[in-house]
Order: sequence, then C-alpha cells, then structure tokens
Amino acid sequence: MTTPFHLVIMGAPGAGKSTQSKLLQALYALRVYATGQMLRDEVALGTPLGNLAESYFEHGTLLPDTVMIDLITDRLAQLPPQQGCLFDGFPRTIPQARALDDLLHHEHRALNAAISLELTDDQAIQRLGGRRMCVGLGDPFPVHISDQAALDDCLRRGGQLVTRPDDEPAVIAERLHVYEAETAPLRDYYQQQGMLIPVSAAGTPQQVHTTIVAALQARITSTPYMPTK
Ligand code: AP5
Ligand code: MG
Repeated sequence: MTTPFHLVIMGAPGAGKSTQSKLLQALYALRVYATGQMLRDEVALGTPLGNLAESYFEHGTLLPDTVMIDLITDRLAQLPPQQGCLFDGFPRTIPQARALDDLLHHEHRALNAAISLELTDDQAIQRLGGRRMCVGLGDPFPVHISDQAALDDCLRRGGQLVTRPDDEPAVIAERLHVYEAETAPLRDYYQQQGMLIPVSAAGTPQQVHTTIVAALQARITSTPYMPTK
C-alpha cells in the first residue's frame, strides 16, 4: 500500500520552482500543478480565464484568490486517490494556503512539506533575464541561455525556445515586489505548521535538487506511487 504525498514549492520569481518541480516529478511520479503554466495554457487557448490572466500577467500581479482556488479545486478532484502531487506557484497568499489546507483535508490528503527556495533578487533577475521556455515537447519547461546543451537539446528534439512576456524588466520588478508583499508571509504560515523546508537556491539545479531530496527523505517514508505506462 502506498500513501500519496503532497508538496508545495514556493520561492520568488526565478528562484527555480519549475526547474525543481520537473526534477521532483521525475523522481517521485508526482502530478505537478503549476498554476502559472496552467494560466498560460488558458491564454494560448483563448478561454475567458486566459483573457483574464493576460491582464494580470501584463502587470505582474496576482489573479484573485477565488479564481485560483476554484482552479485548483477542480484539478485536484481529478487526481487519482493513490497519486500525490506538487503545487508549483500555489498557494501565493494566506487565503490560498488556508483553502489548500481545507481542500486537502476534504480529499483525505495531507501536506508533507512546503519547500521554500531562497535566492537574492539580483540572482533571480539574472536568471529571469536569460530564461527561455522550451515549448512543444509536452509541458513547457524552463531553460537558461547559459546552458547551451539544454538549448540544443530542446531544438534538436523539435521544441521551440520562447521568451515569456512577463520576463520583461519592469514586470519582473513588480513580480518580485508582489512576492515579498503577498507570498513571503507564507514562510511563517508553514513554519508554524512545522512544514517549512527552506533551501538555498543558489547552487546548480542538481545541487539544489539533492538538498531538497535529502530534506524530504527525513519526512516521507512511504513508497512513491508509480503509474503504470
Ligand atoms: P509563475 O509562472 O508561477 O511565475 P513565477 O512565480 O513568477 O515564477 P517563475 O516561473 O518566473 O520562476 P521559477 O521559480 O519557476 O523559476 P524557473 O525554474 O523557471 O506565475 C506567473 C503568473 O501567474 C504570476 O505572476 C501571476 O500573475 C499568475 N499566478 C500563478 N499562480 C498564481 C496564484 N497561485 N495566485 C495568483 N496568481 C497566480 O527558473 C528560472 C530560470 O533560471 C530558468 O532559465 C532556469 O533554467 C534557471 N535556473 C533554475 N534553477 C537554476 C539554478 N539552480 N542555477 C542556475 N539557473 C537556474
Ligand atoms: Mg515557474
């Protein structure tokens, strides 16, 4: 019998949430709910939610809590009971965090840890300035222009390299400000619950991943769910 586990990964824009999510997903077969990417998918489809999201992306601000909570409620209802998940970019406010607690409880699930990636604003700005999204190979994933091998691999496999519209200097500055004002207080929220795992995000992606896995191993003792292909 496996017990599914559930993780939150938080951190400033550019801290490496999506990079680490991809590595953790591969290791633990978690379903990843990346709210920013879910919204970008809606933009690409031209849905009403996508149209709404676009106006917030333009300014680097957060969509209303009710919209995001409804979105996660809907997706979580579709998660197989034996599979766990990782939330990348949700929650971002205290009301979202409280709603997630209620939702997991309602679904007879429990949060195991909230990983907080810690990085200075200057480092985050440098990362975002060189980020490209590799699209067209399943879920879009971030690469950096300093990683020529990753860029070549994306292109060789038929992917395309795209710059995110919100990776523009003025919008990055606003996103960092919004993170400090609205999301950083979640560190205390999860610290009080004994859930917080602060991790320096300053090393290479693999070094950060190794640190996260070592911290998780102390908390997660169940066998991860492995979907049958
Ligand atoms: P979202 O897409 O979540 O954006 P974000 O929080 O600003 O974070 P990023 O995706 O920009 O950064 P990341 O931490 O994932 O870094 P990455 O791994 O790409 O949200 C976008 C928008 O959607 C929000 O602004 C908001 O409007 C809305 N939204 C989403 N969720 C919401 C919610 N819950 N409530 C309300 N609104 C919501 O890495 C960055 C770069 O660095 C990449 O190039 C990568 O290759 C590189 N890199 C990563 N790790 C390393 C490393 N260790 N060393 C060197 N380079 C690295
Ligand atoms: Mg991301």
